[in-house]
Amino acid sequence: MRKCAAVVLAAGLGTRMKSEKAKVLHEMAGLPMVFYPVQTAAKLKMSPIVVIVGHQGKIVEKELRQLMPKADLRFVTQRRQLGTGHAVKQAKKELADFDGDLLILYGDVPLISQQTVKAFKKLHTKSEFKASVISIFLDNPTGYGRMLLTDDDNLVRIVEEKDATAGEKKIKEVNSGIYLVDSKTLFKYIGKVKKKNVQGEYYLTDAISMIAEKDKVGVIPLDEPTELTGINNRVDLAYVTGELRYMINDYWMRMGVTMHDPESTYIDAQVVIGPDSVLGPDVHLLGNTKIGEKCIIEAGSHIRDSVLSAGVHVKPYSVFEKAKVKTGSVIGPFSRIRPGTTIGEQCKVGNFVEMKKVTTGKNTKVSHLTYLGDAKLGSDINIGAGTITCNYDGVNKHLTVIGDGAFIGSDSQLVAPVKVGKGAYIGSGSTITDDVPAQALAVARGRQFVRKGYAKAFMKKAKKAKAKKNP
Ligand code: UD1
Ligand code: CA
Repeated sequence: MRKCAAVVLAAGLGTRMKSEKAKVLHEMAGLPMVFYPVQTAAKLKMSPIVVIVGHQGKIVEKELRQLMPKADLRFVTQRRQLGTGHAVKQAKKELADFDGDLLILYGDVPLISQQTVKAFKKLHTKSEFKASVISIFLDNPTGYGRMLLTDDDNLVRIVEEKDATAGEKKIKEVNSGIYLVDSKTLFKYIGKVKKKNVQGEYYLTDAISMIAEKDKVGVIPLDEPTELTGINNRVDLAYVTGELRYMINDYWMRMGVTMHDPESTYIDAQVVIGPDSVLGPDVHLLGNTKIGEKCIIEAGSHIRDSVLSAGVHVKPYSVFEKAKVKTGSVIGPFSRIRPGTTIGEQCKVGNFVEMKKVTTGKNTKVSHLTYLGDAKLGSDINIGAGTITCNYDGVNKHLTVIGDGAFIGSDSQLVAPVKVGKGAYIGSGSTITDDVPAQALAVARGRQFVRKGYAKAFMKKAKKAKAKKNP
């Protein structure tokens, strides 16, 4: 087997994105677009993978290393973007000891699949070509390099749109820009490329054309050009991201996930979902989220960087961020579960409940209109409607601890730091400022007084006062 390395061109500025951010850092399904072609090379065990970076190169390097710590990634900076040939030339030093084929990919052509590269590589290797190129047939070939072939399909050269004659412009077979080429051969010719063309750039296509003068270059057409779509502006970005989303949803449905409306279901690339889970319309599963098997995620819920164990049921319009929910719990509708929260097994969290940095044991219920922040809850607790942990004194955050089996009556405030012992009972409407021992009853509210028959007299007095005010 011949060795295979990859060169990914990712130095371009991407002016048409009209962005402060380098084009290849724009995200698709939660990851920078350059991640995708690099991942394709990495999954096919290409080594090394040389990424040619320019604009914001340090950030590109940091992000890719973080996402693919095991891949053999090398980063080379192209200071000025003088053309695709010049870009590839920057990899020469890094590949000085490499002998084998180079796969050329682009940071802004993210959908190229492993299957396509595999098939391409098979044909290239079998035929012992020095170089092969993937071509595509386009009804509208504008903007692409045209493939000039002899009658018996041998590549003569590739001519760029801007350098093409009117006749050449009519050719519908275009250069995808993806090549496999023997590294020694490529670097022999790439130094000879001149910038004598309309754009004044060093064209990689010229090096391929020079190889074609000496040896046969394989031209391998691809029927389905979608995966070779390049991104130049935000319209392309939306289109390609849509295709990627379609592919991701397709994959998860085939893995046993039901989607009520795949068109409105957004799943980021790194998300994992267990079989027999059901996703309602307009569900967003984002970042590093893991959904266990047999979960139900109802309409409009957004779940980011969170882990839901098997059988969790999320009712509509709930929002999660960096949270964990254990088996069998039911959350929502309209719950907001914020970072640092772990909800134990078989718990119930209901409408208009916000939780931040909260841990709970099993079978605890927080059913209505509640804020819990910086709290440690045990098991079998009932938190009444309208409970609030007063965790912030304006400067510091303080902890509330509630023991197993405690009952917090509705409309109570727990002024942290404070502890409620196991099995304790807090009367409704209490403002708890001191620790409550286990099994104790605590009531902290104004005492009710009753004056029999006083209502009529009270009302009479009130009406008199009103009449005096507005005669
Ligand atoms: C290139 C091909 C063209 C092909 C098309 C397919 C050449 C000369 N032309 O044209 O035949 O049909 O791709 O999409 O190769 N880049 C760098 N450094 C540079 C220049 C470019 O990293 O100095 C990167 C860009 O960021 C981009 C890629 O290389 O990701 C392609 O460059 P671009 O200028 O867009 O080439 P095209 O004109 O599209
Ligand atoms: Ca391009």
